Amino acid sequence: ISDVAGDIESVLLTEERIRERIAELCREIEAEDAATTDGTPLLLVGVLKGAVMVMADLARELRIPVQMDWMAVSSYGSSTQSSGVVRILKDLDAELAGRRVLIVEDILDSGLTLSWLVENLRSRGPASVRVCTLLRKPEAVKIRVDVQHCGFDIPNEFVIGYGLDYAERYRNLRDVAVLAPHVYA
Ligand code: PRP
Ligand code: MN
Ligand code: MG
Repeated sequence: ISDVAGDIESVLLTEERIRERIAELCREIEAEDAATTDGTPLLLVGVLKGAVMVMADLARELRIPVQMDWMAVSSYGSSTQSSGVVRILKDLDAELAGRRVLIVEDILDSGLTLSWLVENLRSRGPASVRVCTLLRKPEAVKIRVDVQHCGFDIPNEFVIGYGLDYAERYRNLRDVAVLAPHVYA
């Protein structure tokens, strides 16, 4: 515990605050879906691996029928240049034709991943594609993405926990925290 605690600069969002906000997002999503529902379940598309925690908590909080599916994608190019090239590592199992789709993401940073994903899923003929992201960094956005449900706008700092990693570590932290600079310096 002390090992991980020393890697945390500060806690940005506590487990409790995240839980409360996810409940609010679920009420929004339920209201939105009630206006468009056709009797079929809403298809939640989680983006591996970061969205695992938010997907698990969001899906269990929702009081409407849902299905869960997953995609894994990999983006290329340097962090200072958004090439827009994204590769599918694991595709959906579900067919999207006629489906109401809600993409579930942990964070919108540059926007590269989500902008590509929205277009990719739209091309498969769904009834709708909406986006829910727990976190968004307004100062880091390079590509405009329409987000219907956003949990928190956060400062442009390196955050970890609740699914978010640094070098595949810290995903299992219950809070969202700012990574101490000495870890990546
Ligand atoms: C992270 C995060 C988002 C994406 C956001 O995923 O989980 O999916 O980056 O960044 P962007 O807006 O600049 O595209 P990452 O590629 O690190 O994979 P992971 O989810 O497995 O950690
Ligand atoms: Mn991710
Ligand atoms: Mg990552």
